[in-house]
Amino acid sequence: MTKKIITGGTIVTATDTYKADILIENEKIAQIAAKIIDSEAEIIDATGKYVFPGGIDPHTHLDMPFNNTVTDDDWESGTIAAAFGGTTTILDFCLTAGETKLSNAIEKWNEKSKGKAAIDYGYHLMISDLNEETEKELPLLLEKEGITSIKVFMAYAKEFQATDRTLYKAFKIGKETGAVVMVHCENGSVIDELVEQAKLAGNTAPIYHALTRPPELEGEATKRAIELAYVAGATLYVVHVTCKEAVDEIIKAREKGYDVYGETCPPYLTLDQTALEKPNFEGAKYVWSPPLRPISHQEPLWNALKAKQLQTIGSDQCSFNFNGKKQLGLNDFSKIPNGGPFIEDRFSVLYSEGVAKGRISLNDFVDMISTSAAKIFGLYPQKGTIAVGSDADIVLFDPSVKRTISAQTHHMNVDYNAFEGLEVTGEPISVLLRGEYVIKDKQFVGSLDYGKYIKRKLAKKLSDEEAVVPN
Ligand code: URP
Ligand code: ZN
Ligand code: ZN
Repeated sequence: MTKKIITGGTIVTATDTYKADILIENEKIAQIAAKIIDSEAEIIDATGKYVFPGGIDPHTHLDMPFNNTVTDDDWESGTIAAAFGGTTTILDFCLTAGETKLSNAIEKWNEKSKGKAAIDYGYHLMISDLNEETEKELPLLLEKEGITSIKVFMAYAKEFQATDRTLYKAFKIGKETGAVVMVHCENGSVIDELVEQAKLAGNTAPIYHALTRPPELEGEATKRAIELAYVAGATLYVVHVTCKEAVDEIIKAREKGYDVYGETCPPYLTLDQTALEKPNFEGAKYVWSPPLRPISHQEPLWNALKAKQLQTIGSDQCSFNFNGKKQLGLNDFSKIPNGGPFIEDRFSVLYSEGVAKGRISLNDFVDMISTSAAKIFGLYPQKGTIAVGSDADIVLFDPSVKRTISAQTHHMNVDYNAFEGLEVTGEPISVLLRGEYVIKDKQFVGSLDYGKYIKRKLAKKLSDEEAVVPN
């Protein structure tokens, strides 16, 4: 591997913004200094560009069986699209539902990702049920595989939903192992009833997806998860927070010193519930869970990000083609596969809607898109920052470019883009993963066997000083 020097750019981390050169050697950042001279090194001119740490997307579903079908982006198209968008590490959900041994699920996920990852990756282990065997296996497996996060669903009654008892047991294992417990917070049982009532009343259009999943049921489940995590003494990470009701519960808990983190996603910050009313069944393109909310929920989400009460931005990449997949629910909204394509635009949409529109600072952007996830999920400081000794995962970002997001030009394997027509400011121009180009001048030049599985470390809690946990 040749040495590289990135020169002339503005380095931005979660805490600092400054001009300096970066020397890359043996996959790592070897030196950062005002001027670096090395005649053997390849020079990368970053004049006029921001030099960001590679994005870390803590929430993806690639090649995942769900809602009687499978997501349309697999590891190849998903990780290439992620790289185009400035993401160099993803954490994907490994489903264990239906497995007698949890390790079988890891083997399946390894089969899916093998030779198909353009960027680095890890897994969160999803738990829908625990029995005597799996309860014993789980802590050993987490340690063996370097997995420091478990995921539990309080929704999807017919597929993944865990009982409160299982949720509590997962929190106990989280407490014992130090793993973060990620929870999809919606009251799945009540939603199921509302869905049934809506269908009985003849209400089958996509908008009923949103109307049968009101924000109160996200707020209620968020509060329940917070209290169960507290009783068990676990660290809770609430995935895809969408509404004021859930944000309020998270803020209350954090103010009490509970170890609770929250993630939101670009569509909840930029789109709203009216998208589900688009004619010709186009509303189905915007069906995911929790659903898009009335526009009034966007401001509480931005405020919570700004106040660091929500820490991360996940894509919740879970793509289904409109033709053939979303259309499964043409006559019944409950059959529309839940999920959307966001892995590629997560970084740019947050930059454009957040930094360029003055809602968040440049350093907070880096924190949300990369650093906080690295810290919470045990990747820091190997990843998530630009520092000597860290992996040379680097995005050269041109903040002066204006472009329009479109399915015509995106790299995801899906026939629509939920942000179609959105004009964004800024674009990742080149992306390096452990010192090698994955994207060079907006072209994919990476390789599908370079992305590496990362065994993670248990994270020091971000709020160790102020955390209040029983036991
Ligand atoms: O609708 C969504 N979000 N699909 C992916 C699964 C999940 O709930 O995260
Ligand atoms: Zn979810
Ligand atoms: Zn998800």
